[in-house]
Amino acid sequence: MRDKIVAGNWKMNNDLAQTEDLLSNIKKLYKENREVRVIVAPAFTNLHHAFESLRDSPIDVAAQNMNEHKEGAYTGEVSAQMLSSIGIKIVILGHSERRAIFNETDALLAKKVDAALENDMEVIFCCGEELSERKGEKHFEVVKSQLENGLFHVAEGQWSKIVIAYEPVWAIGTGETASPEQAQEMHAFIRKTIAEKFGSELANKVAILYGGSVKPANAQEIFAKEDVDGGLIGGASLKAEDFIAIAEAF
Ligand code: G3P
Repeated sequence: MRDKIVAGNWKMNNDLAQTEDLLSNIKKLYKENREVRVIVAPAFTNLHHAFESLRDSPIDVAAQNMNEHKEGAYTGEVSAQMLSSIGIKIVILGHSERRAIFNETDALLAKKVDAALENDMEVIFCCGEELSERKGEKHFEVVKSQLENGLFHVAEGQWSKIVIAYEPVWAIGTGETASPEQAQEMHAFIRKTIAEKFGSELANKVAILYGGSVKPANAQEIFAKEDVDGGLIGGASLKAEDFIAIAEAF
């Protein structure tokens, strides 16, 4: 049985007071459901507060990124060890905004994955194609390459720490959600690609989340698809009622 997961990627939003307001509203609305893991990913400056605020809640806290080095002269950066030291054991890596805006390559992401796993962290590894790549029928090739070059070096024994998030770039923040059929098609392809490398037993245990304009109105239909195990939510996760509605959409 795979985990069902709904994770909120808050991106560069919310100061400390706004974080506390959002967490307080999420806690008020959240009804514990052991079938669904709920995760929030605040910005670095709010991680410790979020961890402490949710200490007595089943809701987990994730970082949105981290550096691949253990420590050193990397001004402005944050290491896996630093995140672990404040209780953060989950990290989102390879988000399309990191790839596009901050030039994160598959090779760099492979190192970040290793650093996270060395610190016993769980990784939500993002993949997804640009609109031009989909229009050019290259989307399967692009996603396969992202997985093979960023993630497939991971040893079989470490895959219990891996969650994949398929986020078609053209659906992120656009309101143009992939159809449930498009999501299922790519998720099934991702699972098949994992199975070809690691076997179907391992592949069937990997949670694959969909991200890209998930809203309360479309979540249930997308999450109902066989190879969709939940969502990585951006904008809608910044509104407690919408985020909880999505978390309850299974
Ligand atoms: O990481 C999730 C994010 O990229 C999706 O954003 O606003 O389209 O839900 P949004």
